[in-house]
Amino acid sequence: MKVQNKKKIFPSDFQWGVATSAFQLEGSPHADWTNWDSCLNNKPLITGHYNLFREDLKLLKDLGVNAYRFSLEWSRIQPREYTWDEEAIAHYQEVIDILRSYSIEPMVTLHHFTHPRWFMERHPWHRTASIEKFLRFTERIVSTLKGVRYWITFNEPYVILLGGYLEGVTPPGLRDVPRSLVALKNIFTCHGKAYDIIHRYIPDAQVSVAHNMSVFAPWKRWNPLDRLLKKTANYFYNHSIINAFQTGVFIVKFPFSRAVEIEVPIKDKIDFFGINYYTRIHLRFNPFKKMGVELRHMDIDGNGLTNLGWEIHPRGLEKVLRYASRLNLPLFITENGIASHDTEEKVKYMKKHVDIVERCLRDGLNVRGYFYWTLIDNYEWLQGLDVRFGLYRVDFETLTRTPTFAATYYAYIIQSRSNM
Ligand code: GAL
Repeated sequence: MKVQNKKKIFPSDFQWGVATSAFQLEGSPHADWTNWDSCLNNKPLITGHYNLFREDLKLLKDLGVNAYRFSLEWSRIQPREYTWDEEAIAHYQEVIDILRSYSIEPMVTLHHFTHPRWFMERHPWHRTASIEKFLRFTERIVSTLKGVRYWITFNEPYVILLGGYLEGVTPPGLRDVPRSLVALKNIFTCHGKAYDIIHRYIPDAQVSVAHNMSVFAPWKRWNPLDRLLKKTANYFYNHSIINAFQTGVFIVKFPFSRAVEIEVPIKDKIDFFGINYYTRIHLRFNPFKKMGVELRHMDIDGNGLTNLGWEIHPRGLEKVLRYASRLNLPLFITENGIASHDTEEKVKYMKKHVDIVERCLRDGLNVRGYFYWTLIDNYEWLQGLDVRFGLYRVDFETLTRTPTFAATYYAYIIQSRSNM
């Protein structure tokens, strides 16, 4: 393939990566989620990645990425409350060693949505003991695994709270505002303390969360209630966490109610900011919906909707990067990708978003990495196995992996735009 010869904007140490999560690739007999979604009954090991990991890591080498974000499946490492599985720890160490042998920088996520079943049954996030349990896991990991500088403590902490404590669709399946606030405090307390633990063992570590950011818009521009909802959602979803990293206080404020302030020990406990960006969401006030809010994806700009029905809105990536730049920290796009059976759609999505990153770099934004979601087709939370986010297509019967044109195209993007 011909490589363009235009001025290179991406810095030489820019991290070109892909992102995955352990459970979505390999499942786990001990995870809370295994029993949560019956679609996993017939395919508990999903893509078989836990055994096929060497072959899958080789795909990263073929792509030419220089970074890889992946998570540790806590329930494999600590299948029972007082039992550690040394083989599982050794397994993840081997993953890191292979990456290093390919000169690929590992970025490790400690918590990506799933928990050991014992944790969810006995110490879910609204109980104080959750803090000690998570930190014990963290310390065990960072004191044992060698060769990791980049750490994500929590993937999408707000999504954990929304799904598990407000909508009740993910473990622990509650719809309970007061408990959601306690869980928020406990999760972010864990982040702050995990930050210290990681730095104690690895002084030059770089630690963040991967925060899901979205662009919000009023369903009807002329409707003041829709506009108010947009403002509220934008503040809460995108900005309140940034403020909390600056001040150590979460301010939760909904229209027509008093603000709640929650102190958390996270002030300045962040070295870079990880952003997962996928889409824009339109909002409208609807008294018959939960909390008076109705969400919708609309194809306003003609970029289309993904297979999950999400609006493709590349310009939103620039918006959220600008919001996050308030932190004055390096920014990493820790996830960005599209669910589609159509490879051309994937290529278009990827190109448009990478173009935005390039424009942001030109404008001086401190973007240091882009991680495509995801390497191979996997299990998509509550949506099953036919949601195709992968650069490689997985046949879930034979477990064979086949490159799609999007894989070739990502390799081309990396080659043509980077100064590596
Ligand atoms: C993110 C999540 C990933 C993946 C992706 C696509 O929110 O971190 O695990 O599922 O969405 O939906």
